[in-house]
Amino acid sequence: MRHDVPNPFMAQCPDGPCPGADATHGADPIEARLLAEFLGEQGGADEARVAEVLRRRIDLDEPVAYITGKAYFWTLELEVSPDVLIPRPCSEILVETAVGHLRKADEPTANADTEASQIIDLGTGTGCLLLAALSECQAARGLGVDLSPAAIRIAARNAERAGLQDRVALANLDFTSPTLAADLAASMPLPGQPARVLMSNPPYITTGEMLDLDPSVRDHEPHLALEGGADGLACYRAIADQIPSLLDAGVLEKGSAIVLEAGSTQALRIAALICEKSPSSTVEIRRDLSGIDRCVKVTLA
Ligand SMILES: C[S@@+](CC[C@H](N)C(=O)[O-])C[C@H]1O[C@@H](n2cnc3c(N)ncnc32)[C@H](O)[C@@H]1O
Repeated sequence: MRHDVPNPFMAQCPDGPCPGADATHGADPIEARLLAEFLGEQGGADEARVAEVLRRRIDLDEPVAYITGKAYFWTLELEVSPDVLIPRPCSEILVETAVGHLRKADEPTANADTEASQIIDLGTGTGCLLLAALSECQAARGLGVDLSPAAIRIAARNAERAGLQDRVALANLDFTSPTLAADLAASMPLPGQPARVLMSNPPYITTGEMLDLDPSVRDHEPHLALEGGADGLACYRAIADQIPSLLDAGVLEKGSAIVLEAGSTQALRIAALICEKSPSSTVEIRRDLSGIDRCVKVTLA
């Protein structure tokens, strides 16, 4: 972990570092190795190239992942650009939780490979969450949506890169839209079949916190991926408001899980927002490897 400049998501994880954070922002030896590899791939570490890389990393505080164009998440190497958030290790708990729910859903066979479950990922960015979950569930299909057309193009290339393109659909949609349920129903890879899991890592940094973010985040990562309104919960409210119409449209069903990433102090408030729309649901709050309440799972009743 670098000590002079806090990890960008430390702003969201005040109780401890994001573990393994990260191959893109964190430990200097890892950064050095990634940059050396990158220079090698670019044809060698001549003086001008090294100077340019150091200028971007040190003077401009640009994240290593944007310099190299690559980030690592779960078992995947993903393309990134400043159009997408750099995947964070603390988000992997969402993948674990989603995959756990898909496997349970397939009981009594308990074999996630035999059932063609469906996953929706709202605000897919690089596609990291969806692709990681699909890589663990051989028969599952997934739909990733994002408001950013550039993010959708990157997610599509990442699906190809991971060899998952045949099981992934991507759509340029707004998860606050009044037509979301119909739009999702029309885009699902398994039409007419409710999703077993809806996952999302929506923007959750408050407008006030945006100013205090580490410059490597604030000045380089897309604000569309970061800012969640005055209290950071605007996107969760929008997603909660969609639940009744998602159930009516058969996009979700009883037993489907909503799996959401939370900022370090937000988990209980997010659970309350979702349960308001689906009162008998069961809630589980799961911690990331730093012990922070990071993942809210609501199983719809
Ligand atoms: C925090 S990033 C998460 C990206 C990726 N899922 C991850 O975990 O690294 C949030 C994503 O939501 C997208 N987004 C923001 N507002 C949206 C909206 N109203 N509808 C759809 N996507 C949205 C952003 O473009 C961004 O890709």
